[in-house]
Amino acid sequence: MQNIWKGNKKYHSLNIFIFCVSFFLLLIEKLMGDDGKELFTRENCTKCHSIKSEGIEPQKESLLKGRKIIDHSGVGLRRDSEWIQKWLKKEIENEKGRKHKVKWKGSDEELKILAEFLSHLKKEIPEEELKKWYQDLLNSSR
Ligand code: HEC
Repeated sequence: MQNIWKGNKKYHSLNIFIFCVSFFLLLIEKLMGDDGKELFTRENCTKCHSIKSEGIEPQKESLLKGRKIIDHSGVGLRRDSEWIQKWLKKEIENEKGRKHKVKWKGSDEELKILAEFLSHLKKEIPEEELKKWYQDLLNSSR
């Protein structure tokens, strides 16, 4: 009886240990693992773009300067991940014969995560709604 009790107790602390390790691994993953959304903001795409459907605002400074903002809430309706990766590396032109303004400077791995995220955005926001949103953001920053 005594032995079984001891054994169980050992097992119990092992369980707690495993639980703690899993918890910390999850926490680390959350803190270090980049998702597309984070990359979009971190790589300054918000200087020229927004994603209203994801709650990603354009930079206030760009709005104040009157810079043209292109929203990517529906970009996945037109572009797939492969296209976006090539586009951001300035390897291809769009229908208007233009290449992207800025060239991707991060790693291929990050580019893939970012492009994958963008290609899944399929909720086009009407131009009028975007205009109003940008105006509201401008007003609230003043
Ligand atoms: C200096 C401004 C600027 C920055 C910064 C910028 N873009 Fe762009 N982006 C543009 C412009 C302008 C266009 C439209 C080009 C055209 O229509 O010829 C565009 C187009 C795109 C398109 C194609 C949309 C479509 O439907 O064809 C994607 C995707 C894109 N940008 C993603 C990004 C990502 C991701 C970042 C950040 C790594 C980024 N952009 C940073 C200006 C910018």
